[in-house]
Amino acid sequence: MWDYTDKVKDFFENPRNVGEVGRIDGVGEVGSLACGDALRLTIQVDKSSGKIEDARFQTFGCASAIASSSALTEMIRGLTTEEALNISNKDIADYLGGLPKEKMHCSVLGREAMEAAIANYLGQAPKKEEGEIICECFGVTDRDIERVVMENDLTTLEEVTDYTKAGGGCGSCHEKIEALLYRIMAKRQKEAQAAETPPKKLTNLQKIKLIEETIEREIRPALKMDGGDIELVDVDGNHVMVTLKGTCSTCAASQFTLTEYVEQKLKEFVTDEIMVVEVKQ
Ligand code: FES
Repeated sequence: MWDYTDKVKDFFENPRNVGEVGRIDGVGEVGSLACGDALRLTIQVDKSSGKIEDARFQTFGCASAIASSSALTEMIRGLTTEEALNISNKDIADYLGGLPKEKMHCSVLGREAMEAAIANYLGQAPKKEEGEIICECFGVTDRDIERVVMENDLTTLEEVTDYTKAGGGCGSCHEKIEALLYRIMAKRQKEAQAAETPPKKLTNLQKIKLIEETIEREIRPALKMDGGDIELVDVDGNHVMVTLKGTCSTCAASQFTLTEYVEQKLKEFVTDEIMVVEVKQ
């Protein structure tokens, strides 16, 4: 039996703001009945102030899903859409005095529905599923997991399942989740260490070595998976000259690959002052 706070019980037994708003300015629908939880959130926004004047929900879910959705509608009423977007799933759980850890995914569902409704109000395309699906049973991607792990300081597979449902079905994704968790925790540890230790000035030789290692370990394998490759041509200060090879050299998105992938990886592992310059052959 779950241990619910009085506030969760109250919001479950007397849910506020059930139904649909009178004038739907934004709608967010998340989850699916196949997964056991589905939530539809509608918002009405005052155009002049940008404030959410009404928010209502409909859900097929458990007591925690009803309480979380209801709490969310109370929390976002009167806020601007920008202010509402600062609300995390943890804030929803805190508002209710906490949720059983096995039910934290209900607060995540609420936050996602709110983001979808606001995106819809702002005329933005529905968020494309980004990242690699890690858990097929519940359609959870590595990005979803990373975000929830970072925001809630999760450290175990069980916690990931409690917060995202990933891993709560057939279990065949457990190894993948654990590997992902390991990578996220290592990254977090590295960031914490970097925050404590002021960055050491790299000598040119150290910098070039680090660039070569990063290309070899992080960048080349990913490009090769798509039939591409990369060659380091030269390094001048923080300017890294490279040539894309294989399919990457003819790909229409090569500039995107350079700035959003190659440069970002070098910034992450070498120094954030790196600028990548393409040298065409
Ligand atoms: S694939 Fe994740 S539980 Fe089945």
